[in-house]
Amino acid sequence: MRILLLGRNGQVGWELQRSLAPLGELVALDRRGAAGLVGELSDLDGLAATVRAVRPTVIVNAAAHTAVDKAESEPDLAHRLNAEAPAVLAREAAALGALLVHYSTDYVFDGSGDAPRTEDAPTHPLSVYGQTKLEGERAIRAAGGRHLILRTSWVYAARGGNFAKTMLRLAGERERLTVINDQWGAPTGAELIADVSAQAIAQVRQQPEKAGLYHLAAAGETTWFDYANYVLETAKKAQQAIKIKATETLPIATSAYPTPARRPLNSRLDTRALQAAFGLRLPPWQDGVRRMLAETL
Ligand SMILES: NC(=O)c1ccc[n+]([C@@H]2O[C@H](COP(=O)([O-])OP(=O)(O)OC[C@H]3O[C@@H](n4cnc5c(N)ncnc54)[C@H](OP(=O)(O)O)[C@@H]3O)[C@@H](O)[C@H]2O)c1
Repeated sequence: MRILLLGRNGQVGWELQRSLAPLGELVALDRRGAAGLVGELSDLDGLAATVRAVRPTVIVNAAAHTAVDKAESEPDLAHRLNAEAPAVLAREAAALGALLVHYSTDYVFDGSGDAPRTEDAPTHPLSVYGQTKLEGERAIRAAGGRHLILRTSWVYAARGGNFAKTMLRLAGERERLTVINDQWGAPTGAELIADVSAQAIAQVRQQPEKAGLYHLAAAGETTWFDYANYVLETAKKAQQAIKIKATETLPIATSAYPTPARRPLNSRLDTRALQAAFGLRLPPWQDGVRRMLAETL
């Protein structure tokens, strides 16, 4: 099988380079492209021509406009990258008979209530990012080809910056940390997303009826505040010498920390459909966070 991966240097894209490699020949692009191939999502004609030139069996799109606050002031660009580019990929995939794997987000929901959302729960995005990601999902479905759309949440990776590293840095600089305590979700490692994607691709190739929309997140739930405390406690246990100046973490409400984009308070995703369809078990969120800390401390 030949796999075309877009967004190879993102959190998920980087881990996909590892997890997809054993499945077949991998053509992995970042936005600069390579050898006449286009990886820039805003170049819609170039993307279409790239798919036609590579003729992949599977297209995996890990690229997106992910700057949630910035998207509020550049809705046209967010729409192009998150809705129009996936639409082009979906049309080209359908024409080739290729499988399109795409990532979406719990930000397609408004985050009301406190129950985990299933795949068929009503959508109602609060932000430009959420709205454009939802339009991307709809365009993929409308193209009529085989697809896997994996909605995930609170993604982190060992590589690059992440919430845990920011908390550790701030805890070394400040006496007191204030962290949001009324947004609920499950921190989900890019590693886990990439591994599950590879498993799902292999299975959909054998059993095309498993294609569709699924929720993918680590098990359990927490708030950013409890997540921050978990990171600080784990880091202290793992490395006694770590410099933590902060003696206090204080919970604050989302309303006390205004941002350009509104974020859902409830990011819980019900992942039972994915686990049942693919015979997988999603581990508790703490497992991946501990591993990421062990790798980065
Ligand atoms: N991060 C989260 O918490 C989260 C939560 C739910 C869902 N998701 C979804 O999961 C997927 C992967 O997210 P991630 O966390 O891996 O994001 P990420 O680390 O921000 O990576 C996004 C990638 O998209 C690339 N990109 C941005 N603009 C581009 C353009 N115009 N043309 C080509 N590539 C472009 C970036 O390239 P550069 O590195 O060159 O900028 C980067 O490699 C996305 O679909 C995202 O919407 C993420």
